[in-house]
Amino acid sequence: MKILVTGAAGFIGTNFVYYELENHPEDQIVALDLLTYAGNLKNLDGCKDNPNFKFVKMDIRDREAIYKLFEEEQFDIVANFAAESHVDRSIEDPEVFLRTNIIGTEVLMDASLKYGVKRYHQVSTDEVYGDLPLEATDLFFTESTPLHTSSPYSASKASGDLLVMAYHRTFGLNMSISRCSNNYGPYQFPEKLIPLMINNARHDKNLPVYGEGLNVRDWLHVYDHCSGIDLVMRNGENGEVYNIGGHNERHNIDVVKTILKELDKPESLITYVTDRKGHDLRYAIDPTKIETKLGWKPKYNFESGIKETINWYLNNQQWMDEVTSGDYLKYYEEMYGNR
Ligand code: NAD
Ligand code: TYD
Repeated sequence: MKILVTGAAGFIGTNFVYYELENHPEDQIVALDLLTYAGNLKNLDGCKDNPNFKFVKMDIRDREAIYKLFEEEQFDIVANFAAESHVDRSIEDPEVFLRTNIIGTEVLMDASLKYGVKRYHQVSTDEVYGDLPLEATDLFFTESTPLHTSSPYSASKASGDLLVMAYHRTFGLNMSISRCSNNYGPYQFPEKLIPLMINNARHDKNLPVYGEGLNVRDWLHVYDHCSGIDLVMRNGENGEVYNIGGHNERHNIDVVKTILKELDKPESLITYVTDRKGHDLRYAIDPTKIETKLGWKPKYNFESGIKETINWYLNNQQWMDEVTSGDYLKYYEEMYGNR
C-alpha cells in the first residue's frame, strides 16, 4: 500500500513515519510537510535511505500541487497530521490555524475523492470536546460527547472534523477520525509543556506554570497514539470516530515536579505566571471504543514513559539546541537547496 503522511516532519508525524516503516515494511510512505517552524526535516534522517520512504516539501493548502502529487502517486491511504497545533499561538494569531486546519483539510479530501483514495484518516484531538470540570473525575470524553471548543486551535480542529464528516455524508468519502489526548515522547517541539520544562530545567531557567498549575491533562506516549492511528486507518469502520487515550490524568504542576525530580533540579525553579486565556480545565478520554472494537492497548505507563522521554531529550541535546536556536530551519536548504 502507498500511504501519504502529511505533517510528517512534526512531532507525531515523525514518530508515525518510523512506526509505519518498522511495522509495515511492505508499505510505501510518502512524507509531506511544509516545514513551518514546527517541522524539522532532520527528524526523518533515520529513514532517508529507506527505499520505501520519500519526502515531499509541500503546503496542503496548495490545491494545484496536491492534485499533481495525488495523480502521480495514486495513494491508497491519506493520514492527515499536518496542522498548526499550539493553543498559545492560536490565541496570538488565529488565521493560519483556520487556513491550514480547515482549508488544508478540504484540499486533501477533494484530492482523495478525485484520485480514488481508499481511506482518508483525519488526526484530531480531544480538545474538540472542550473541557471537563476538575472535580467531576467520573466524567470522560466519549465519541458522542458534543463538540464544544475553547480556543481558536480547538475550534479549527473541530471545524476540520465536521468537514470530514460532511464529505462522508455528502460525497461518500471513505474516512475515519481519531481524537487523542495530550502526547509526550521524542521529537516534540519545545513550545509544548513537557519538552519546554525539560529544556528550561536543564539550563536552570524558570519553569513558567500557567495559573496555579492545577489544570489536568491526560497524557499518552506518542508511540501508543501511533499504534492507535495505525489500527483506525487500516481497520476502523468507514465514517467512524475513535477516541485514543490511556487514562493517565495528571495536574500540570505534578508533571513539572516529576521532571524536576528526574533531573535533580530544585522546585524553586517553578514560576507561576498569568493563566492562558480560556484555559481548558481538564481533559480525560474514555478509550473503550478503540479497545473493544479494534483491540488497541497502550504499551507505555506514564511513570516509565516520562523517564524514557526525559532521557531521550538528555541524549539528544544537539537536537534540542538546534531547534531552540533555529538552526534546523536551514537544514532543508542544505539538503535540497541545490537539487
Ligand atoms: P506539530 O506542530 O509538531 O507538527 C505539525 C506539522 O505540520 C509540522 O511539521 C508542520 O511543518 C506541518 N504543517 C503545518 N502547516 C502545514 C501545511 N500548511 N502544509 C503542510 N504541512 C504543514 O504537531 P503535532 O503535535 O505533531 O500534531 C500532529 C497532529 O496531531 C495535529 O493535527 C494535532 O492537532 C494532532 N494532535 C496532537 C496532539 C499532541 O499532543 N501534540 C494530541 C492530539 C492530536
Ligand atoms: P500544551 O503542551 O500547550 O498542550 P495543550 O494546551 O494543547 O493541552 O500545554 C499543556 C498544559 O500545560 C496546559 O494546561 C497549559 C500548560 N502549560 C504551562 O503551564 N506552561 C507552559 O509553558 C506551557 C507551554 C503549557
